[in-house]
Amino acid sequence: MQAIEPFFLTTPLYYVNAQPHLGSAYTTIAADAIARFHRLLGDKVILLTGVDEHGGKIEATAKTRELNPQEHCDEITQSFLTLWQDLKISYNFFSRTTNPKHKQKVQAFFQKVQAKGDIYEADYKGLYCLACEDFKSERELLEGKLCSTHLTPVQEYAETNLFFALSKYTEPLKTFFRENPDFVKPAFRKHEIEALLAEGLRDFPISRRGVKWGIEVPDKPEQTIYVWFDALLGYLSPFSDEDNPRASLHLIGKDILRFHALYWPAMLMSAELPLPKMVFGHGFLTMEGEKMGKTRGNVIYPHDLLYRFGIDAMRFYFLFSVPFGQDGDYSEKVFVQTVNAYLANRLGNLFSRVIKLKSTYKLEELTEAQLAMSSLRESLETLPAQVKACMEELDLSGALGLIFAAVDAMNLLLTEQKPWTLLKSAPDSAEYNAGSVAVQEVFQGLFVVAQLLCPFMPSLGEKMLAVFGLTEPRPWAEIAWKSRFTLDSTLESLALFSRIEG
Ligand code: MSP
Repeated sequence: MQAIEPFFLTTPLYYVNAQPHLGSAYTTIAADAIARFHRLLGDKVILLTGVDEHGGKIEATAKTRELNPQEHCDEITQSFLTLWQDLKISYNFFSRTTNPKHKQKVQAFFQKVQAKGDIYEADYKGLYCLACEDFKSERELLEGKLCSTHLTPVQEYAETNLFFALSKYTEPLKTFFRENPDFVKPAFRKHEIEALLAEGLRDFPISRRGVKWGIEVPDKPEQTIYVWFDALLGYLSPFSDEDNPRASLHLIGKDILRFHALYWPAMLMSAELPLPKMVFGHGFLTMEGEKMGKTRGNVIYPHDLLYRFGIDAMRFYFLFSVPFGQDGDYSEKVFVQTVNAYLANRLGNLFSRVIKLKSTYKLEELTEAQLAMSSLRESLETLPAQVKACMEELDLSGALGLIFAAVDAMNLLLTEQKPWTLLKSAPDSAEYNAGSVAVQEVFQGLFVVAQLLCPFMPSLGEKMLAVFGLTEPRPWAEIAWKSRFTLDSTLESLALFSRIEG
């Protein structure tokens, strides 16, 4: 029997030149929500994240801090590990490029590509952005020769290096793109890649003489391997050569699309390894409409947001407010308003009202007929499948939008029926029964909503599941309108989410 292929998802390996940035947290939160959703579906999931530790940029930062590069890397890596723990990132592998196993893998890969005849020595002259660890052409730069992503000056670069014969893969890549039209997502980002392919790809240097902090080129210890040629292999280095998994999805930001959509597949083709199924380039986050940058002094640190507003607020805001794939903005005012409106008002109040009513009054179980006749039935019966369809398209904000539309429908039912008034009538009266049915219907709906929200907000999810006496979500097939659940008998009230203050 053939083993089922796991859903293998990666985040980029983050540079450890500085403390984790909001952009890194954003990619990782999204990857975690996708991974958790696949686990909810019953898939075997491998979520890999990690750090990219070599190269001139990190070498230079360690030097200014008067630390040896490894000490510097260990310290920053620890901040990433702490952040991922605090954000409940459920990764299965944490890949470090300073790991000895990684070094072996990179050198073996280099030799394989070399044996294929895809590596040669030549001179290179050009402009280099140390922050991107990438070459730039004049036309990509802003006035004053500034990198358009980092707004920092580029450097003149001239060295004799080893080159990777990327140009050789222009045609094979064109064929690959034709045969795999969904390889780059969102679709609008594909044009940029196709334009580069149409121009024809150029070979690029994959070794450095001037950088000591890197993996030595086999048989040429005076040169180190270019940090991107090294880091991309971090997606495979935790695995043995026999079970190199094929990536289902590389989740990245739009700025590093070219490396993942062109360089990486070409490298894999050269080494005769399987190509990833999809690369998704999400948008950039701005701060109050402006590009975030150290020079502007408007960088947001994820730990600050986390300590001030909590994990649920943070995960919810970025997953819900930014249509996945588009650019998004962070402004404290909008953040606070959105989070309070959805988590405290819509969701939190709904839970607390229903739990209060359930624990105060004796309510009859719904009959099959009442379940079938409920005005919530139609939307809640189809909700799991609709949310799944959105997630398959990586429309994370769309999925959350559907779940909150169901929450709104439940709030509306309560506002219209006012069970808190009906339940004050005599226990066997028609009014009392109508009140009882209304509360039970909503409770039934909350069960579905609670499960579906778990991948997005695992911490809040735990509190919601506890209402039903559960410690983890039920298997996918049971997240249905037809299942009946009882309230955890110890529960009398629940403050699901406390309002946040700006
Ligand atoms: N080390 C490389 C990736 C190597 S993968 C084999 C790298 N690291 S990074 O730390 O600079 O960037 C990591 C991710 O953060 C990228 O996906 C990038 O797009 C993302 N972001 C950086 N700034 C961002 C925003 N302002 N907004 C959203 N994400 C952005 O590149």
